[in-house]
Amino acid sequence: MSSMLAPQADRVMALSEWEDRWQEGRIGFHRPQVNKMLEKNIDKVLNGRTGVRFFFPLCGKAVDMKWLADLGHSVVGVEISEKGIRDFFEENNMTYSVETVASLPGAKVFKSSEKNISLYQCDLFNFSSSIEGQFGAIWDRGSLVAINPRDREKYAALITTLMATDCRYILNTLLYNPELYKGPPFVVPEEQVHILFGSRCSIELLHSVSDMTDRDYRTENVHLLTPKTS
Ligand SMILES: C[S@@+](CC[C@H](N)C(=O)[O-])C[C@H]1O[C@@H](n2cnc3c(N)ncnc32)[C@H](O)[C@@H]1O
Repeated sequence: MSSMLAPQADRVMALSEWEDRWQEGRIGFHRPQVNKMLEKNIDKVLNGRTGVRFFFPLCGKAVDMKWLADLGHSVVGVEISEKGIRDFFEENNMTYSVETVASLPGAKVFKSSEKNISLYQCDLFNFSSSIEGQFGAIWDRGSLVAINPRDREKYAALITTLMATDCRYILNTLLYNPELYKGPPFVVPEEQVHILFGSRCSIELLHSVSDMTDRDYRTENVHLLTPKTS
């Protein structure tokens, strides 16, 4: 595993670099359609439940949030870029309010007027269960793979505190040759998924889809994590 992690281990992307990407339109991670893996696995996530509270760490302007809200679920997201959040509401023709958050100095929360969607503009690592409680589902696409590799333990510790006992957490990770790309997105080996979450969660690999390109291979892994106590 260390040979997979070493090339990217010290890469640090500052929050201001993410904002620059938003301002310059360098957001190749954004997809205009609902994520196929979310659609495919929605029954596994819901597990018979209705009105589930979803958490989207590092939400960007993912259209999946609107899709879930249209299905009657509620969504809380965290995103550092105010532009990303405003674009989400504007591109989906939603009006919204903006409030400060007493318990999170410097943060703002953007709330849809029509749908049950609240997006916090702050560093994810300042967010906690004291702000919005725990969640029944977490959709993690472009999140664990986007945070700086050195922050993964902190990330796993935070995410597991946000999981309610019946939470179903879908975690998307990527594998490719880390010598060829500096990331993000960063490589997260399977073994590390187990090291990060295995003591607190049961982990099922739902899908593993590989592509070959002329230079490299690329594998997308989709996991379902559930708290071990449930
Ligand atoms: C790779 S993008 C993925 C966005 C979204 N999940 C998607 O699938 O389209 C990562 C996003 O996280 C935001 N971000 C990066 N680090 C963050 C942090 N520490 N706290 C909050 N947002 C962060 C970036 O601005 C960017 O929009």
